Amino acid sequence: MLSEVLAPKQIKEDAESLQIWGKDWTNGFVVAPSAIVFPESIEQLKDLVAHARSNHVKLVPSGGRTGLSGGAVASQGEVVVSFDRMNQILDFSAKDRIVTCQPGLITANLQAFAAEQGLFYPVDFASSGSSQIGGNVATNAGGIKVIRYGLTRDWVAGMKVVTGSGALLDCNAGLIKNATGYDFRHLMIGSEGTLGLIGELDMYLAPQPQPQVVMVVGVPEVTDLLNILNGFNDRLTLSAFEFFSDLALQKVQAHRQLPAPLENRVENYALLEFDESDLPMAEEAFAYCMDQGWLVDGVVSQSQAQAASLWQLREGISESLAPHTPYKNDLSVRISEVPAFLADVDRYVQEGYPDFEVCWYGHIGDGNLHLNILRPESMSVDEFFHVGHTMSPKIFELVQARRGSISAEHGVGLLKRDFLGYSRSDEEIALMRGLKQVFDPDQILNPDKLLPLADA
Ligand code: MLT
Ligand code: ZN
Repeated sequence: MLSEVLAPKQIKEDAESLQIWGKDWTNGFVVAPSAIVFPESIEQLKDLVAHARSNHVKLVPSGGRTGLSGGAVASQGEVVVSFDRMNQILDFSAKDRIVTCQPGLITANLQAFAAEQGLFYPVDFASSGSSQIGGNVATNAGGIKVIRYGLTRDWVAGMKVVTGSGALLDCNAGLIKNATGYDFRHLMIGSEGTLGLIGELDMYLAPQPQPQVVMVVGVPEVTDLLNILNGFNDRLTLSAFEFFSDLALQKVQAHRQLPAPLENRVENYALLEFDESDLPMAEEAFAYCMDQGWLVDGVVSQSQAQAASLWQLREGISESLAPHTPYKNDLSVRISEVPAFLADVDRYVQEGYPDFEVCWYGHIGDGNLHLNILRPESMSVDEFFHVGHTMSPKIFELVQARRGSISAEHGVGLLKRDFLGYSRSDEEIALMRGLKQVFDPDQILNPDKLLPLADA
């Protein structure tokens, strides 16, 4: 009985709660948890793991539920472990620039806390208002500033984690140098809750950057995006280099009632962000790219408000596509391979599915592309998902041919589990299974996520 471990107010079993906490932003999976629990301390996480081991209960850790790969979906009677009540900042060391927090802390709250200290938490994405730091760590979340600041992994100074075997590990304790063998902190990052339940995190903060300027440029040929990236990289440090197609722009404009950034429509756009003091270098780079014929027009933010509204053109895309129930994919290849890879996928879709609209956008400065294929209105959601499922292996073959990743930043979860072999070798998957067995010998943590089913 869960009530042996937690107070009644920490357990929800009503149908509505099961539906709310039993899923993330992914569609199409059965949602059927048996209960939702809200632990409030590491001790309670330990008790939950002990309870799960002795009673053969499966646990699905769940953060802000903004995931797009079904990593927090409970489909088969599992108990969802929500971190909503472990959402506090516990300590701050100004000398170390380290915040100690609970995993349920909302990303935007960490960003706001950093700003109050005159510092900066740089990992950012459209879902920062609801995603939780623990979930970000569990998926090694990326987002829009990776080109300058790296991934969530780069900001984790330490963590306390309860493994599936019930051990409480205190990993790295905020040390910068620590050459004492295997770093379990890094093993836990990106493990999608399959090895342990994160109970506490030490997160680094960065110095506050200068005010940022945003530039949106029109790029007729997608192949020139990389030339533009290099043109700017040669002259200044970019904080972001994002890309969206005109179709993506049309969708977000219509959804959020936003004006077009440029006078005339162009096939593609890049959104660049950089320090205010680099504006002269950015203008020089812009002129150079214009001379080369790589871009045709541009707009530069004149205020923080205008910068924010230009960012909406990129950050609002995902939400604006949701009503189209798109076939979504999150892929990466080396930056230099991006143009050829885009062409490969476009060719494949145009030849096999000429009626489908392909909507590209993404973090092109990181080689990370979000492929969204829109559902034709004449097709039912089920039929379209089925077609999407048949497209995936072919698209993943194109990824594999370029030694890319079938999940750049959204994680594997349930959605990509059966396709992991397109990015990881049999030997790697066998080693992952070995690790899973060591850390979670009773297979209680996030069952059937990340690793392909053994008998599949
Ligand atoms: C984004 O970059 O907008 C997010 O990863 C969400 C998405 O891909 O839809
Ligand atoms: Zn993204």
